[in-house]
Amino acid sequence: MASYVFMKLLESSARRYDVGINILSLGQTHKVKREIAEKYISASDRVLEIGCGTGTLAILCAEKGASVTAFDICSDMLDVARKKIQKNNLADRIQLKQMGAIEMDTAFDDETFDRIVGTLVFSELYCDEQKHVLRESCRILKHGGLIIIADETKPNSLVKQVLHLLVRVPLAIITYVLTQTSTKALSDMEGLLSDAGFEMIHWKRGCLDSFGLYVARKGWSNGTQRST
Ligand SMILES: C[S@@+](CC[C@H](N)C(=O)[O-])C[C@H]1O[C@@H](n2cnc3c(N)ncnc32)[C@H](O)[C@@H]1O
Repeated sequence: MASYVFMKLLESSARRYDVGINILSLGQTHKVKREIAEKYISASDRVLEIGCGTGTLAILCAEKGASVTAFDICSDMLDVARKKIQKNNLADRIQLKQMGAIEMDTAFDDETFDRIVGTLVFSELYCDEQKHVLRESCRILKHGGLIIIADETKPNSLVKQVLHLLVRVPLAIITYVLTQTSTKALSDMEGLLSDAGFEMIHWKRGCLDSFGLYVARKGWSNGTQRST
């Protein structure tokens, strides 16, 4: 959905983010978070969430019994997450950290997590940051562990790309004027994951190919990155 570019506007009011993102995505983002928690998270898992925002996915994972570390760069988003976690009595299962994704290289030890999840955050990272985060994710995941990413994607076919751009460009201009920031729909996530040392095990695209869910595994033999 090209309208995801409005995410940046929603983030400027953390208290209203949950309501806003549900309206903007017509409930799709909550649905995909539930799907991630239901299908890919087990009670014994140690989960890391990148760019956790207001903590919805972290809470769904903790409700499955997982032990979750969730970080975000924005203190306002984390304040909302903290309140939701307390309200759900999950403070003993979720550890929140305020940090940027770029700090993953010093924040976490090798082979710590069973699952790494990130929804609507990779589209906010620069290309070099995306590569860094994927390489670091491969390092800190246990062998056989999964990374699960859901985000806005660039459609493959020319017709869908044109439609996507027609809707997205005006929205991106409005967002930029109001926030001086923007987001970038992901392209070639399969290639980026493979370069970082992951083996793709499942992916699907929806909404005219403009939203994708990617699930990739750290293999038993590829603990380090293949290329930079
Ligand atoms: C659109 S929100 C998504 C929040 C949540 N994952 C969700 O799906 O609702 C993007 C989040 O990523 C965070 N973020 C953006 N860049 C980041 C970075 N470099 N490091 C950590 N968090 C970042 C933002 O602060 C924001 O909370």
